[in-house]
Amino acid sequence: MSIIVGGGTGFIGRHFAKLGASKGYKVISVSRNAGPNRITWQDVSRSGLPEDCIAVVSMSGEPILQPFKKWTPDFKERIRASRVDKTRLLSAAIAQSSKPPKVFVSLSGVSYYKPHPNKEYTEESLVEPYDYLSELTRDWERAAALPDTVSTRSVIVRTGVVLGKDGGMVQNLKTPFYLGAGGPIGSGKQWLPWIHVDDMVGIILFSVENDNVKGVLNGTAPGVVASGEFTKSFASAMWRPHLFPMPAFVVNNMFGSEAGIVMLEGQKVTPKRALELGYKFKYPDVTSACKELVS
Ligand SMILES: NC(=O)c1ccc[n+]([C@@H]2O[C@H](COP(=O)([O-])OP(=O)(O)OC[C@H]3O[C@@H](n4cnc5c(N)ncnc54)[C@H](OP(=O)(O)O)[C@@H]3O)[C@@H](O)[C@H]2O)c1
Repeated sequence: MSIIVGGGTGFIGRHFAKLGASKGYKVISVSRNAGPNRITWQDVSRSGLPEDCIAVVSMSGEPILQPFKKWTPDFKERIRASRVDKTRLLSAAIAQSSKPPKVFVSLSGVSYYKPHPNKEYTEESLVEPYDYLSELTRDWERAAALPDTVSTRSVIVRTGVVLGKDGGMVQNLKTPFYLGAGGPIGSGKQWLPWIHVDDMVGIILFSVENDNVKGVLNGTAPGVVASGEFTKSFASAMWRPHLFPMPAFVVNNMFGSEAGIVMLEGQKVTPKRALELGYKFKYPDVTSACKELVS
């Protein structure tokens, strides 16, 4: 039984492959480059999905936050194509398959919800694009839509900031915090809708294995906190001070003002549906997550 994962060679994908293999699945990534346990996007376009494919997961994407990489029109096009076009390619392959998989799980982002100091968002909240990233997210989710004639169950996971020792935001924070130079990012008052990578891949597998899971799930931890509370817990788990803020102008200089918003503003997003459906979080609060991240 294989699970085909678009962009499965990255940070989340490596963790998902490990979890999937431990449960007896053959996890195959769809990649730009050929290699072991991989097929290429051209293979999928040419030959469709493998016969034994029971699930497809879409998680490819050019990283949006890269220091000193400004969001030029060309870079924005790469951000979009790597998500929207690749997701569309997978949904088309499912629609054309003579033996469609039972489920299609497609990741998107919590940037669909407009940053707000005290509004709480669940999957039932109305979403309306308000900037480049939210328009991209709308189009990304639309690209995952399957025709009504296809029996495949469809799940969208609106993913928060994924925390893990070996990738994403933690990799950028580890060194300055270890050296005692860590502190809040911007005001530190903005929400940080985070999730531990074990729960991120746990929710994906939960969606694959449970036939009653469909529609949108927020991929965030129940214990959503302000960004400054997270950096404080992270410093404390490392036994380091939390004294040196990274001011907004430094963030904007490093990432550009459009991308900087992702770090300087945030949304209070809760995983209402995952909890209702019975998903049990391994790391529901920031203290337990930070202990694991620095262990
Ligand atoms: N990590 C987070 O905090 C977070 C938060 C919210 C949403 N997400 C979303 O979750 C997905 C997976 O996240 P991740 O952190 O695992 O991502 P990642 O490690 O940065 O990248 C995932 C994979 O995307 C493929 N990729 C990168 N640039 C590409 C391009 N220009 N064209 C086509 N494919 C490209 C790469 O596969 P190949 O090199 O093998 O082609 C890469 O291994 C992404 O779509 C991301 O936007 C992540």
